[in-house]
Parts: sequence; C-alpha cells; structure tokens
Amino acid sequence: MAQDDHSGAELAAADSSHAAHDIAVSPGTAVIAADSFENPGFPPHRPRVTDENPKREQRAQRTVYTLFYLSILGSVWAIAAYMLFPIESNDVGAVRLNNMFFGLGATLALLAIGFGVVHWGKAIMADVELADERHTIGGSPETQAAAVKVFADADRESGFTRRAAIRNSLIGALLVFPLPAVVLFRGFAPQDQIPVELLSHTMWKKGTRLALDPSGVPIKAADVTIGSAVHVIPEGLQDLEHGKLEEKAKAAVLLMRLEPSELHQAPDRESWSYEGIVAYSKICTHVGCPVALYEQHTHHLLCPCHQSQFDVANHCEVIFGPAARPLPQLPIAVDDEGYLIAQSDFTEPVGPSFWERN
Ligand code: FES
Repeated sequence: MAQDDHSGAELAAADSSHAAHDIAVSPGTAVIAADSFENPGFPPHRPRVTDENPKREQRAQRTVYTLFYLSILGSVWAIAAYMLFPIESNDVGAVRLNNMFFGLGATLALLAIGFGVVHWGKAIMADVELADERHTIGGSPETQAAAVKVFADADRESGFTRRAAIRNSLIGALLVFPLPAVVLFRGFAPQDQIPVELLSHTMWKKGTRLALDPSGVPIKAADVTIGSAVHVIPEGLQDLEHGKLEEKAKAAVLLMRLEPSELHQAPDRESWSYEGIVAYSKICTHVGCPVALYEQHTHHLLCPCHQSQFDVANHCEVIFGPAARPLPQLPIAVDDEGYLIAQSDFTEPVGPSFWERN
C-alpha cells in the first residue's frame, strides 16, 4: 500500500511537472486532465406564441380536444365499418373493403390520440426547463413527498384537472379506443353462436367414424398395425360446405396402436381404447400447434413448436416442455363392420389450456 501511495505521488508530481514544462506525455502514463469545458447552462428562454397570446392558447386547446373527439369518431367508425362491410367467405373484395375501412378507423383513432397528446404537451403545458441532478434512489418520506409534489406540479402545469374538456375527451378517447379490438375478436366466431361453446366442442359424436386425413376414407381397426401412427379426421368433414378448416382445427386426431400390455390405462378409461388402439387430440395443449411427431419405441408424441412431449402409454401425460395438461383422449370403439368409431365427443376442450378452465 505504501508503495502504491508512493507511485501515485510520483505520478502526480510527474504530471504537474509535465504540465509546467508543456512536455508531451505518452499515452498510458497521462493523468486525466480536468474538464476544460464550462457548463453552458440553458439557452435563453423563448416564450411560445401560446404563452403570450390567449387566443392562440384557446385555439390550441380546441385543436387538442378536437383531435381526441376525432379519435372517438375513428373508433366508432372502425366498429361500424366492421359491420357495414362484413367479411364474406370466398369474396376477396369484401375482405379488402372490410380491412381498409376498419383499418382507416383504427388508424384515425390511434393517430388522433397521439397527435392530441403531443400538441397538448408542446403548445399548452407549462414551458419550463429543468435540470434534474443525479441522486441516490431512495424511498424516504421526504422523497415520497417530493414525488407527490412532482405529480401535483405536473397536474397544475398541464391543467389536467383544471382543463376538464381536454381531460374528459382524452379519457373518453382512451376508453373507446380498445372497442374495435373487442369487436374484431368477437367477429372471428359466427354471430349467432357463443365463442366459448364453439371452442368447447368438436365434430366428433357417438358413432362418427374415424377417417384418414386428408382422404376421408374410414379406418378399419384391422388396418392399424402395431407401432403405427395415423392422422385422423371425422368422417364427413370433407363434405362440409362451410367451416371445414375451423372444424378440422378442433377435431384433428392422432391414432396410435401399441401392444395392449404397454398401455397403462386408468380403470375409468379402459373402455376408451380398442385392442391397443388409442386416439388423442392432435392439438397441443400448450398453444395449439399440431402434435405431429411420434416416436414408436418410446411411445412419445412430440410437439415441434416448443418441444412438449406426451407419453401415449400413460394417457398422453406431459413428460417434458411447457404444455400444462395431457392431450385430451377421444373414446373410441369399433362398429359392426369393423370400422373405428368415436364413442362421444372429447370429454374436455381441446387445445390450449385456457379453455380447460371454462
Ligand atoms: S404448442 Fe406445443 S409445445 Fe408449444
């Protein structure tokens, strides 16, 4: 330590000596010189036109609340446009009109809020320049009181409480703005049906034959060999005129055949399989990707999206990955002609776990 002090003193002495004699110092031995720049401070304050002219201030205020009311109009128009220009399936022109007019309304709603807030800040709020010194972070009563004072000052200077027309129009614009999104999401489901109900049921019902995806050819139990995995859809899906993809997205199933002795079935589910053939929803219970990879030696199903793995031999319970619950099982049986059929719909909602909570 003594040696360090000694070295430091020597360096300081060398530095003052160099400075005194204006000798060039090589990089690495130089001591940082004092900052040679003066703090220039703030430039002279220039009042805005709205600070000096009350009429211009009034005009700026009118501009701001007009923008907020325009935002409300934009949101309302987006909702109206969504209904006035409905999306018709197989009609690209209708989709384009719907998107364009809905988008125009949503754009106006968002832009008007943005422009209004910026104009409020630039033209009306108090024009004060402040220097905020760095200080330690703390939560002492004094600090909290200072924070409260900052909010009070901001309120006083912005006029948030005092300028009721601006404040109320902004609150109104912010409240109305999310409504187009609500309408948009509701519009994903047919108007005469309840979305949660739609997501809770599939096309499967008692007696529906299991068919090959995509041909729709019914599957005989005898044709499913041990170790195989078959992609399955309900018979009749291909004949649907409307909503074929929506139904397939819920009803897609994977069919596997194991040695019956390898299946570990709960007593209440022993009748849900047929001679080692089991059927599970293909829709991952994480976020709904198709579970498409089957490892026949381990009997594991893998979802390629986020690597969830399900154990087919144990009711497709999750053995790895982010999925929160097993794949729903479709109870199956065989009809008089030897075709595999469903005993019922799934007994729980398929897909992401959110729907399980309903
Ligand atoms: S969707 Fe299957 S793991 Fe994420």
